[in-house]
Amino acid sequence: MTQFSDFGLAAPLIKTLDALGYTQPTPIQTQAIPLVLSGKDMLGIAQTGTGKTAAFALPLLHHLNASQKEGDRIRKSVRGLVLAPTRELATQIAESFREYGRLLGLRVNVVLGGVPINKQIRTLEKGTDVLIATPGRLEDLMQQKAVTLDYVTHLVLDEADQMLDMGFIHALKRIAKALPRERQTMLFSATMPSEIEALSKQFQKDPGKVSVAPVSSTAERVSQHAYFVKQKDKAVLLSRLLKEREVSRAIIFTRTKHGANRLVGQLDKSNLDAMAIHGNKTQNQRQKALNSFREGKCAFLVATDVAARGIDIPEVSHVFNFDLPEVPEQYVHRIGRTARAGREGTAVSLISDGERNLHRAIEKLTNVRLDGLPLPDGFAQEVKDAPEELTASHRDRRKSEFSGRGDGGKRPARGGGKGRSGGPPRGRNNDTRSSEGRPARSGQDDGGNRDGLERAMGAGPRGDGGKRPARGGGNGRPTRGGKPQGQAKRPGGQSSRGNRARARQDS
Ligand SMILES: Nc1ncnc2c1ncn2[C@@H]1O[C@H](COP(=O)(O)OP(=O)(O)OP(=O)(O)O)[C@@H](O)[C@H]1O
Ligand SMILES: [Mg+2]
Repeated sequence: MTQFSDFGLAAPLIKTLDALGYTQPTPIQTQAIPLVLSGKDMLGIAQTGTGKTAAFALPLLHHLNASQKEGDRIRKSVRGLVLAPTRELATQIAESFREYGRLLGLRVNVVLGGVPINKQIRTLEKGTDVLIATPGRLEDLMQQKAVTLDYVTHLVLDEADQMLDMGFIHALKRIAKALPRERQTMLFSATMPSEIEALSKQFQKDPGKVSVAPVSSTAERVSQHAYFVKQKDKAVLLSRLLKEREVSRAIIFTRTKHGANRLVGQLDKSNLDAMAIHGNKTQNQRQKALNSFREGKCAFLVATDVAARGIDIPEVSHVFNFDLPEVPEQYVHRIGRTARAGREGTAVSLISDGERNLHRAIEKLTNVRLDGLPLPDGFAQEVKDAPEELTASHRDRRKSEFSGRGDGGKRPARGGGKGRSGGPPRGRNNDTRSSEGRPARSGQDDGGNRDGLERAMGAGPRGDGGKRPARGGGNGRPTRGGKPQGQAKRPGGQSSRGNRARARQDS
């Protein structure tokens, strides 16, 4: 069996891996590390939680260590550049680089939006071996001439399909123009829609493709379940499920930032202490929520898709989809926040009548059937007994939010909510802004909340308007969805570009 010592990595790296308890390379590491060490461009696809970060970080650190000349850093220069779609992921990747490279003496820096830029300018002045960045802030720093990319030898796009999608592609093209043509470029993700893969060719030369499982396979040890439930009853059901003993730490995904805030309030009414993370929070609040959750001070994190990709918190026992994601690939990433590094985990999706199309698209992409579990005994009565805040219909909530009275609202709601889920009246909240036309612009994250992903992912209008007939109403047979069967075969269809673009236009 392959060992880390078989790759020819620098001795200090092997020593560190030993100390970290990495006894065996994972399949993506076994395949990717030799390829990256050989100097080839590569496209690496492997399930969530299988060690893609080390698959690019180790060979990159090895290369930069080998070509390092002590005391010779060029002012403002960068040698290895890693781009990531969110600030939290950029921070986490930087921590991994620092950890793996702790015996090498390389300078690892991270730049991201939502925090003051001046300190970052000063840090970059001395030259950087590995820079981890969100694209928007990097562009700002380039404009301010605080950084030069002329010396970049290695480029990594983590969550590559996200980075090459509507929200980031323009920034990425501008950044690529500033990079030397002679460089090694590595792209990694668990999902890679075919049209995005085609786009990847613009950034790479004859890349070696490493794919350890079919594209968009869900993590192996995550058992997947669903409940078919009315939208208005979701908060009651979720509260009940969160109180079950085996739910020790859970991330709950909502479609919109506003929906995330409201759900935190609803859980509070049920005596469940949750914190929210999304693009309308300050960077300080975001990091605080994530840290509290990571440290176990807060057991429940309510998140938009800003937390769907890459975030590595080992003890997450459950992921709940309070709303299904608009883009089926996001389902793979969301549920991949559990069942990481060989652990087990559970994913539970609450599916309303209006979400049947999304449900079908997810099943088609992942090749996993999500049948409905029966609703818990006594659930109908529980709904009847629940406080109004938990069950008020979407329309009522919108009225009461608008009137500010919380009484079901006597004034009419503004801003036609047909087909929307969880959105406030137009103009009151960014969640439902710009649902037509203009594609999301890429990640300029200088304005505190302007990372591409927040703009791109936080909210989306619902296209299907809930017109589809219900199936089964929660009395379907239980399933242990689990692993894709036969792994190699999946129905060909990926979600359409239009669908993905639509999901990225808001926030
Ligand atoms: N060879 C290894 N042995 C033991 N643990 C490992 C090994 N490689 C990585 N890990 C651990 O596995 C976890 C998941 O790794 P990582 O975050 O790189 O996954 P990923 O493939 O990038 O997932 P995602 O697609 O969600 O971003 C991390 O906690 C990491 O420390
Ligand atoms: Mg990752």
